[in-house]
Amino acid sequence: MGNKAAYLLAPKTPLSIQPAPLTHPQPNEIVIRNHALAINPIDWKQQDTGVVISGFPYIMGMDIAGTVVEVGPGIMEFAKGDRVAAIAPALTMQKKEYGGFQLYTVVPTNLVSRIPDNIAFTEAAVLPLGLVTAANGLFEPGNLGLKPPSTSISTDPAANEGKAILIWGGSGSVGSCAI
Ligand SMILES: NC(=O)c1ccc[n+]([C@@H]2O[C@H](COP(=O)([O-])OP(=O)(O)OC[C@H]3O[C@@H](n4cnc5c(N)ncnc54)[C@H](OP(=O)(O)O)[C@@H]3O)[C@@H](O)[C@H]2O)c1
Repeated sequence: MGNKAAYLLAPKTPLSIQPAPLTHPQPNEIVIRNHALAINPIDWKQQDTGVVISGFPYIMGMDIAGTVVEVGPGIMEFAKGDRVAAIAPALTMQKKEYGGFQLYTVVPTNLVSRIPDNIAFTEAAVLPLGLVTAANGLFEPGNLGLKPPSTSISTDPAANEGKAILIWGGSGSVGSCAI
């Protein structure tokens, strides 16, 4: 299987599709064959300004959905053929194999989630970064620091903190995830 990537060769230039290396996964990683990618504001900001890019050529793209094609040594929670969505962490880790805009992306397993068969790759690809950004804003100490939701239903009225929140821009990616 050959890899191809949409490289950013310099700020303010169009992406250039070229052959790319195919990297094997480390013990905490899997390789995903991407079937759908989503675009976020960070992508055009990086392309226009070169922000948070340590060197060129660079492979942008953070939201991916596809099929697992290879798992790192010892990995039990994912298997070849699993349908998954993930955050491609090139922005934080600055490695080309972690960029989303390529056929095959390497991803640490803590950034990957399996997706149900009735969810299309195109539907799943829009969730990862928006969901993480919304959760960061809602639950991280230092941001709103709200109590994370639970799947257990409490009958104790004290469990309802009686707080309300206004989500502004709720039609967008982060806003709809926050809702
Ligand atoms: N996407 C991510 O994962 C991510 C990660 C980190 C940070 N962020 C930041 O989070 C923000 C939202 O990102 P997004 O991906 O959710 O963008 P988005 O999908 O384009 O959503 C933007 C939202 O803002 C609303 N909006 C735009 N202009 C407005 C105005 N003048 N007054 C009131 N509402 C306005 C839009 O409403 P309409 O639909 O009515 O236009 C829409 O609901 C951006 O600043 C982005 O840089 C995003």
